[in-house]
Amino acid sequence: MEKKRLSKALAAAGIASRRACEELIFEGRVQVNGETIKLPQHHIDWDTDRITVDGETVKTEQKKVYYLLNKPPGYICTNIRPGKKKIVLDLFPDTNERLFTVGRLDKETNGLILVTNDGHFANRVIHPSSNIIKEYVVKTLQEITPEHLETLSQGARVDDKWVRPVSVRKIRKGTFRICVKEGKKHEVRIIAERAKLKVAELTRVRIGSLLLGTLQEGEYRPLTEKDKELLFS
Ligand code: URA
Repeated sequence: MEKKRLSKALAAAGIASRRACEELIFEGRVQVNGETIKLPQHHIDWDTDRITVDGETVKTEQKKVYYLLNKPPGYICTNIRPGKKKIVLDLFPDTNERLFTVGRLDKETNGLILVTNDGHFANRVIHPSSNIIKEYVVKTLQEITPEHLETLSQGARVDDKWVRPVSVRKIRKGTFRICVKEGKKHEVRIIAERAKLKVAELTRVRIGSLLLGTLQEGEYRPLTEKDKELLFS
């Protein structure tokens, strides 16, 4: 997050007016990482600095927001735009928060992705210890045979690790569902490739208890408190 003047940051956090925040700073009532700072123009970073006023920790000025997005294909999960390419954050034109995606989907993958400004939440979701299952629907160019299903269920080496799906199920001639826990880059495509299946479309339909539901491509909805709770239960 960009650096902010201490007085401005405190005011934005709702502590008091800018002028009153300057007074607090001059009076030696404000600490940055335990050190009393008497300079209103001292720069702070909400991501890394701990600010206290009279010993009480000040919460970041940014309200934490959480969205469930139906990512359309063709959008990249990044905060730094490569050239003129479309990025997921283009789908949130009216927001002032510094959003980022929770993990990534490939450019051509569509479906459910979480978008937030809460790094702690994002880390919890991504961390392997959370054991959150991700479910994908995969459309293939070929008809899926029992041999394909057998090979899919064996998994594949992704980076340095063997990834074995939690489950694989054929749902139509050229469509299967696959559940994985790992969250490794290109994992479903790599597993499909090992089974000699060509992926025509890859859609993430579930993360833990969160379902893509009826959101249209490019649409998003806020997560409820209940959604967040269930994700880690
Ligand atoms: N697995 C993939 O291969 N691609 C994705 O985008 C997500 C999971």
